[in-house]
Amino acid sequence: MRMIECYFPLSFPFFKIKPYLRPNTFNSNIMAILSIPDQKTEMRDPAEIKAFLNARGVIYEQWEASVPFADNADQETIIQAYAHKLKPYMDSNGYQTADVINVTPQTPNLEALRTKFLSEHIHTEDEVRFFVDGEGQFWFNLGEGNDVFCVTCQAGDLISVPANTRHWFDMGPKRFVKAIRVFIDQSGWVPHYTGSDVAEQYVGTVG
Ligand SMILES: [Fe+2]
Repeated sequence: MRMIECYFPLSFPFFKIKPYLRPNTFNSNIMAILSIPDQKTEMRDPAEIKAFLNARGVIYEQWEASVPFADNADQETIIQAYAHKLKPYMDSNGYQTADVINVTPQTPNLEALRTKFLSEHIHTEDEVRFFVDGEGQFWFNLGEGNDVFCVTCQAGDLISVPANTRHWFDMGPKRFVKAIRVFIDQSGWVPHYTGSDVAEQYVGTVG
């Protein structure tokens, strides 16, 4: 996954700018889908998804995501467009920096980047993503009677995977995702692989 390694302190000067337009693929009405392949069930109601995730310690919110972006929109443009939501969220939760992941089918070394996060892993810090375009699949393996489940996040979905939660990430069949990441300390985001091959059983089971 291509990451633009530039981090913004809380003092980063948020201000409004005119966004680029990306009218062909942007859709502000799409939303998350929660899939449980072993039960052959899925949820599409945001309130139901939020309740399911919150009961398991995963924070899920929906924010207005009505700003279209060009494929080549830079991260300053994307972060500034949502500064009015980001800054209060970061301030209240102690997050210090933000950056943007921006992947398209043309991203170099795409499959290698996908593979890096496709095995079950944990982080020592919460993994927070706000999706502004495209989609990505967060898979969870919580154990203790929970079936493996997948949250397909799309524009407007904010998800926070708690530290030390077994999970993996798939950029999905479209290979297209724009998402803002926020951190307390960027070093906490390093993946620690569990050594489990559970993720291999579910690759491609959610389209
Ligand atoms: Fe992760």
